[in-house]
Amino acid sequence: MQDKMEKIVSLAKRRGFIFQSSEIYGGLSSCYDYGPLGVELKNNVKKAWRKAMIQDRNDVVGIDSSILMHPRVWEASGHLAGFTDPLVDCKSCKKRWRADHLLEAKGIKPNFNPSAMSENDIKCPDCGGDLTDVRKFNLMFKTQMGAVEEEASEIYLRPETCQGIFTNFLNVQQSMRMKLPFGIAQVGKAFRNEITPGHFTFRTREFEQMEMQYFVREENKKELFKKWEESRRDWYLNLGIKKENLRFREHEKDELAHYAEAAFDIEYNYPDMGFKELAGVHDRGNWDLSRHSEYSGEKLQYHDQEKNEKFIPHVIETSDGADRATLAFFLDAYEEVENRSGDKDGKHETEVVLRLHKALAPIKIAILPLSKKEPLQKLADEIQTELRKDNMTQYDQTGSIGKRYRRQDEIGTPYCITVDFESLEDQSVTVRDRDTMEQSRIKISDLKEFFTGKFDF
Ligand code: GAP
Repeated sequence: MQDKMEKIVSLAKRRGFIFQSSEIYGGLSSCYDYGPLGVELKNNVKKAWRKAMIQDRNDVVGIDSSILMHPRVWEASGHLAGFTDPLVDCKSCKKRWRADHLLEAKGIKPNFNPSAMSENDIKCPDCGGDLTDVRKFNLMFKTQMGAVEEEASEIYLRPETCQGIFTNFLNVQQSMRMKLPFGIAQVGKAFRNEITPGHFTFRTREFEQMEMQYFVREENKKELFKKWEESRRDWYLNLGIKKENLRFREHEKDELAHYAEAAFDIEYNYPDMGFKELAGVHDRGNWDLSRHSEYSGEKLQYHDQEKNEKFIPHVIETSDGADRATLAFFLDAYEEVENRSGDKDGKHETEVVLRLHKALAPIKIAILPLSKKEPLQKLADEIQTELRKDNMTQYDQTGSIGKRYRRQDEIGTPYCITVDFESLEDQSVTVRDRDTMEQSRIKISDLKEFFTGKFDF
């Protein structure tokens, strides 16, 4: 029996959502490529995030900063010294493990004290061998900038997107005349040399983040933090994640990242792991702006002209992973149903319906002509040409209509349009709804209006 994660991995490959990177060379561990449907799904997730975080608000603006940054950024941010995971190696089979994960697996709280491993007699989970002492492993990927190797400077692939927001704090605040409280948001790639990547796209070495830094006066921070916590949770719920699969967890003091004063994880109930981090809301204090002020010599202060005050604001960060969110929406939408398309051939007793929120679905409307004959094809073509102006559509003319419905249900297409011989007479088509399976006869001239607003976030 395959578990749900295995089924998702298999569906993702079979139907063009997600492939292993460099598969023809045996694959590159923990790196993935998004296929034709996966890229639509993930783009819709990012669009929904940008709409909620930027388009729908007056107090947040977007940027797109570069991946490569001045190396001093990572000294100032504390990543060079502190962005480490506790690493142990097995002395027998040489496999590497994250010490905190090994403790967690034994139900021991990973409070990081290196003696916790020996005190609890933790061995290699694979071969039972002895483990080395815990040492700190920096997760940043190093590379070189410059054509001549000897003269090239050592730089890093950014491990989080938000540092580009901090370094642009004054540029954005001044050019856009932003007043506190205000936010800067961006979506982009981040890279971490994870010791134990895995669980499909949950933990990878190259991933995308959707981050927003909200600059506030310290005295208003508590109240605004609560609002962001609720707002981020509601975003997932409104896009269809089941309430019982989502929860908040506050970080214990000894778990906090080096920059954080407080942190909440939004956790999703992953089928193979249970509740694990999906996104975070963090109180970063004024750590980052203070450190960048110190290291760059540029005063990253806010000037309140009315009160004639200058100070370094505090930051509430919302940090979501675009890949983790896409995986959660994919998993949550997956449903197996018994032969609901009523196909009598009995070969497909269990059918899959991907009940994605309609705004997230990669294909919004499938056009299915009942025959490959010229007059029906022509009409179906005309319908697609009109509808694709506003939405992603797919044309499918092969197989029985039951089979075609199943194919579309499996990729989460909210509506199928069947064009039949009667359509030539009455200029109407049958529109089938993925979730209710209701079929309505609709005039071709009314289709555009019928779909208006159906795919809004
Ligand atoms: N700027 C704060 C920050 O980066 P984080 O908790 O380390 O905080 C934020 O990461 C989010 O980025 C996580 O909640 C997760 O969604 C995503 N993320 C982090 N590491 C990841 C990885 N190795 N693979 C996929 N997503 C990851």
